Amino acid sequence: MDKLKIRGGRPLHGDIAISGAKNAALPEMCAALLTAEPVHLVNVPRLHDVRTMRRLLDHMGVTTQTHGERGGMSFVAPDTLSPEASYELVKTMRASVLVLGPLLARFGRARVSLPGGCAIGARPVDQHIKGLQAMGAEVRVEHGYVHATVPRLKGARLFTDMVTVTGTENLMMAAALADGETVIENAAREPEVVDLANCLVAMGAQISGAGSDVIRIRGVERLHGATHRIMPDRIETGTYLCAAAVTGGAVRLTGTSSCYLDAVIDKLMDAGCEVVSERDAIRLSAPARLNAVSLRTSPYPAFPTDMQAQFMAINCVANGVAMIRETIFENRFMHAVELQRLGADIRIDGNTAVVQGVAKLEGATVMATDLRASASLVVAGLVAEGETVIERIYHLDRGYERLEAKLAALGAKVRRLA
Ligand code: EPU
Repeated sequence: MDKLKIRGGRPLHGDIAISGAKNAALPEMCAALLTAEPVHLVNVPRLHDVRTMRRLLDHMGVTTQTHGERGGMSFVAPDTLSPEASYELVKTMRASVLVLGPLLARFGRARVSLPGGCAIGARPVDQHIKGLQAMGAEVRVEHGYVHATVPRLKGARLFTDMVTVTGTENLMMAAALADGETVIENAAREPEVVDLANCLVAMGAQISGAGSDVIRIRGVERLHGATHRIMPDRIETGTYLCAAAVTGGAVRLTGTSSCYLDAVIDKLMDAGCEVVSERDAIRLSAPARLNAVSLRTSPYPAFPTDMQAQFMAINCVANGVAMIRETIFENRFMHAVELQRLGADIRIDGNTAVVQGVAKLEGATVMATDLRASASLVVAGLVAEGETVIERIYHLDRGYERLEAKLAALGAKVRRLA
């Protein structure tokens, strides 16, 4: 099984390009299920999760093709496809549940495996189901599968009990082909929801309010093909900013924008970094030692849970004490014990971690438990003295395109071991 070996202690310097956003690519691939015409996506990141979604779509009968070097991918979902997603594929990636809304809206039936729990929490999909039922679907959960049927979904007023990103996306896609107007209240405001709305509008959907907590969708009879460019990955961007910051480096990240990252950049500036926004790039330069920064994760536009682990890593060697509160997922501190193996001083009490900065971390062998946890181990490994070996780096391959190449371009000493 692949491992990543990092020799820490070198400040990162230079320019790298940021890839397309995983969490926009996955729902947009599913949006292609809403039409029989070709949907072309540009700037699709080459990631394990994208390959898993492609396999799932292929399996249903969607024709998928990749084009050229610039992350072009096209999808044709014929009327004859089989609206089913099996446990074998869904269990490996929760985002597979994003096929449910589009399949039901277009084919009037869907059979999709429940995703089950994962390393960061239980992550139920009850809100997705509740919304589809409110739109008139008959939904049964049997033998681990969601069976949903409806002659045609009807527009409805939907309210989710909590802010859910993929829940909002599933319901927005379903509503695009429903009869009448759907209003999603308490909608997620994440930029990926807006990017998906833009993709759907390019396909002929009538959507307003994406990016606010009330989204209105006027259903149409049919959608058509379109070409859509996927937004930059704000979490990949934030991760490289943390990597540069912790090493006292200076980097320029291109093909991305600070507009998606206000909360993250604010914290990096509180930590002592200088951050400059350019038109399609962000520059960061960091002091030799960062100040500790406390944070609390919340839905967008507040601080993202997907950056919590990386900030825990930078706080491990910062000057002072940081309090980190995780409010989105109930089990998202798995990286703390691994960071402790590198010499970090972290105490966990429920959903709060107290991190006392230490003068240095020391390389050790650590284990990645999920995607962002493994990113935090990379950040820590870059500043740790000596060699850090990260095991189970397939987690990293789910969300970071060409990670070693990008880090090496910034001067890091990293190597993949088979
Ligand atoms: N929730 C429910 N019921 C539901 C839906 C959600 O109880 O029906 C709960 C979840 O258990 C969680 C909270 O609501 O406690 C928020 O979960 P959300 O549904 O927003 O998460 P998600 O849509 O499954 C997406 C991203 C995650 C990211 C979260 C939060 C994708 C494919 N995934 O997950 O990304 O952490 O939003 O921003 O968009 C990652 O990229 O590493 C990752 C985990």
